[in-house]
Amino acid sequence: MGLMATLCGIGVGPGDPELITLKGWRRLQQARVIAFPAGLQRRRGIAEEIISPYKEPQQIYLPLEFPYVLAEDVLEQAWQKAAEQVYAYLAQGIDVVFVSEGDVSFYSTFSYLAAAVQSLDPHIAIEVIPGICSPLAAAASLGVPLTLGSDRLAILPAMYHVEDLRRVWAWADVVVLMKVRSVYGHVWHWLKEQDLFDQAAVVTWATTPKQQIYASLRDYPELELPYFSLLIVWKRRLQAWGVGGRE
Ligand SMILES: C[S@@+](CC[C@H](N)C(=O)[O-])C[C@H]1O[C@@H](n2cnc3c(N)ncnc32)[C@H](O)[C@@H]1O
Repeated sequence: MGLMATLCGIGVGPGDPELITLKGWRRLQQARVIAFPAGLQRRRGIAEEIISPYKEPQQIYLPLEFPYVLAEDVLEQAWQKAAEQVYAYLAQGIDVVFVSEGDVSFYSTFSYLAAAVQSLDPHIAIEVIPGICSPLAAAASLGVPLTLGSDRLAILPAMYHVEDLRRVWAWADVVVLMKVRSVYGHVWHWLKEQDLFDQAAVVTWATTPKQQIYASLRDYPELELPYFSLLIVWKRRLQAWGVGGRE
């Protein structure tokens, strides 16, 4: 049985370091060990980038490798290895915080890490400090309310098919497509078929200096998008918010 230590997941927001909550920031300042998903090719990952202005010299930074693959067994091994790295501190009674871009309960590795740590030692306490997730940040960047009144909101993760999109569109008033990069071409054709070019927008790297907004998507049948891109499509017309354009 380990000493009572806490693994605290902190959602550090979508990119702008000022979009971290006061509570998350305070916990970050107090932390001795800060874990986060390692970046690709030895570059800083986005979570590390977001917290870098707040780094204290005595803090231990612990990058954890999570491969970008779908194979369950490879992922499980990675979660297990990461859990062991984190548990090396927790077992000594040292709290660890894990920072995740956006929110920690919203398509985040933290949920798997926390489960793997608890299976190593059920006495470890898990705490979650929420953060601003990317659809909210993207709506703010666009200056368009994400939902209004009785709007029904659907969020689709990666690997959806256009068929899913059709089904969801029959129900929802607003649809957010996460990880749109790999399916953008198919989505563009669907937007064309539905005549929705002026009711959709893509936001990449929302709230960071690299942010890009693509509205009036008819002009962009092909886009080389980064991983941090999402698309929002509304049933509502967007002209009132200055998005879209040609009627
Ligand atoms: C694994 S999910 C993580 C979601 C994250 N936990 C959140 O709360 O938003 C990664 C996807 O989130 C979206 N995403 C996250 N941050 C973003 C940002 N700053 N700008 C645009 N899209 C973002 C992209 O669609 C990306 O492929």
